[in-house]
Amino acid sequence: MIIVQLSDIHVGSQFQESVFETVISEVNQLKPDTILISGDLTNEGLIKEYEKCKKLVSRFECKKIIAISGNHDYRNSGYLAFKKYFPFETINELGSDVVLVTVGTARPDRNEGEVGYRQNLWIERTMKKFQDKIKILAMHHHLVGIPDTGSDRLTVIDAGDVLRTILDTNVELVLCGHKHRPWIWNFKDLEIVNAGTAASDRTRGLFENTYNIIIIEDKKIKVDLKIVGGKRMPLEDIVKNYTRFGEE
Ligand SMILES: [Fe+2]
Ligand SMILES: [Fe+2]
Repeated sequence: MIIVQLSDIHVGSQFQESVFETVISEVNQLKPDTILISGDLTNEGLIKEYEKCKKLVSRFECKKIIAISGNHDYRNSGYLAFKKYFPFETINELGSDVVLVTVGTARPDRNEGEVGYRQNLWIERTMKKFQDKIKILAMHHHLVGIPDTGSDRLTVIDAGDVLRTILDTNVELVLCGHKHRPWIWNFKDLEIVNAGTAASDRTRGLFENTYNIIIIEDKKIKVDLKIVGGKRMPLEDIVKNYTRFGEE
């Protein structure tokens, strides 16, 4: 099974159309089973941005496209439009042994993320129903801080509660966006994967547009990083081989 995780397209002033054209052709060649777009589809949550984004996303040749909203999509009351342009299911059973669950972390006119007490309880109840499956949780905001992105007040503000639920219910993989910097935290039984930005010019840390390719075979998860128009490598490589920018 192949899941492509695209994030932070930012249709609007940060959007690079030619880069996204490359993304569309590359992803269609991969023939993914599922595409997850992990938020910030638009830059300002405006109707004209949603309309343009919808047209672009409809060019992906994939039956299952799951889009979740980001803080930028919620700007200017954009949360009212999001559901109309990108309706989605929160519980997605993919094939016979994978479930991908989404949670909303964006709130109107706020940049930081929050899961909240009720939604956290819902994650716990939902994940417990799928104990025999590979469990993936997707959210826009990054659950754990990412190096080289400054002092960070924009993470999930109740991350401790969410992490406890994730570990308690044996979630194997968390997929996040928001920071525009690809990264992977590899804990013992849990991987937290952050996608870079697929098409925005606000790249960070790794100064290229990227997306993630997740392959699940025999209950094993492998995550690759794909540079748009460039090479593909295990996402772990950028963590292992990474030296701080400007240092040797
Ligand atoms: Fe973003
Ligand atoms: Fe964001």
